[in-house]
Amino acid sequence: MNLLEIQNLKVHFPVRKGLLGRGKEFVHAVDGVTFNIAPGETLGLVGESGCGKTTLGRAVIQLVPSTHGRILFNGEDISRLSATDLRSRRQRFQMIFQDPYSSLNPRLTVLECIGEALDIHRLAPDRAARRERVDKLLKDVGLDPSHADRYPHEFSGGQRQRIGIARALAVQPQLIVCDEPVSALDVSVQAQIINLLKDLQDAHGLAYLFVAHDLAVVEHISHRILVMYLGRIVEEGESKSLCRSPLHPYTRSLLSAVPVVDPDSKRSRIFLAGDVPSPIHPPSGCPFHPRCPMAEGRCKTEVPQLKSIGSDRTVACHLFP
Ligand SMILES: Nc1ncnc2c1ncn2[C@@H]1O[C@H](COP(=O)(O)OP(=O)(O)O)[C@@H](O)[C@H]1O
Ligand SMILES: [Mg+2]
Repeated sequence: MNLLEIQNLKVHFPVRKGLLGRGKEFVHAVDGVTFNIAPGETLGLVGESGCGKTTLGRAVIQLVPSTHGRILFNGEDISRLSATDLRSRRQRFQMIFQDPYSSLNPRLTVLECIGEALDIHRLAPDRAARRERVDKLLKDVGLDPSHADRYPHEFSGGQRQRIGIARALAVQPQLIVCDEPVSALDVSVQAQIINLLKDLQDAHGLAYLFVAHDLAVVEHISHRILVMYLGRIVEEGESKSLCRSPLHPYTRSLLSAVPVVDPDSKRSRIFLAGDVPSPIHPPSGCPFHPRCPMAEGRCKTEVPQLKSIGSDRTVACHLFP
């Protein structure tokens, strides 16, 4: 069984229209997204800034309410739960953020911060057990337990991300949504954090939804990759195959920004003009058509549906009938 099944998920944010604020318009941040994550699997999610990755990641674990669709976690639709029931399920899904500094309370020591997560879910019966569990978690993420009484500002960026990971791990989740967890770190530190996440996945059977704007980062940690554009999935596939032979013109343009190490790679260079259009008034037809170098007449009028190409690829593009 899948750990997570997302069915036609939409998140629309109301915004005021015009100066006088009369009438409502909607930001179509996530606009009909469907995917699954198996236990112990890493699903990468890539796309340019503003295409809806953070909103999707937060909606998956109900930090943002969804407008439409189903979110089945262990077969149960968590988008329909009462606040109390949702709180009791929270232990099973956690999130780590791009900037761990903003997600860690600066007035709590590492011990207090991780201990708080243990207390919320009543995972440590007394102080000694709590301390023991925190020490073990710090060792698991490569930090020195003797530093447990220090404050977040006393650590480097990479170490702070390790604290964020320890805090998420404290409650023994099955899924961690990782929202650009290495984007703010130096390249050498990025690799260390990614390796740590992989080791923890092997040790605990964790599943990850791993969000990044950089395909090179996602390629190394993901089993499968989703490519998102303006709130929709435009391509999905096995990680290596997708990066080696991307089909959607948008995926190809994202990859053409990544240096090629594989001489057999079929990557062709595509340069995109302009930014992601406004998700308040998404373009008609294929949302990518105004920037697509291959767009034809019907791309302006017909929305392409996701179609299977071969055994492990889906793509939403009229070029692939
Ligand atoms: N709370 C909100 N209210 C209104 N619009 C929002 C809100 N959160 C995000 N958005 C908009 O939704 C779109 C997707 O944002 P986001 O999910 O942060 O994208 P990404 O993480 O891919 O950069 C953007 O246009 C953003 O401005
Ligand atoms: Mg984001």
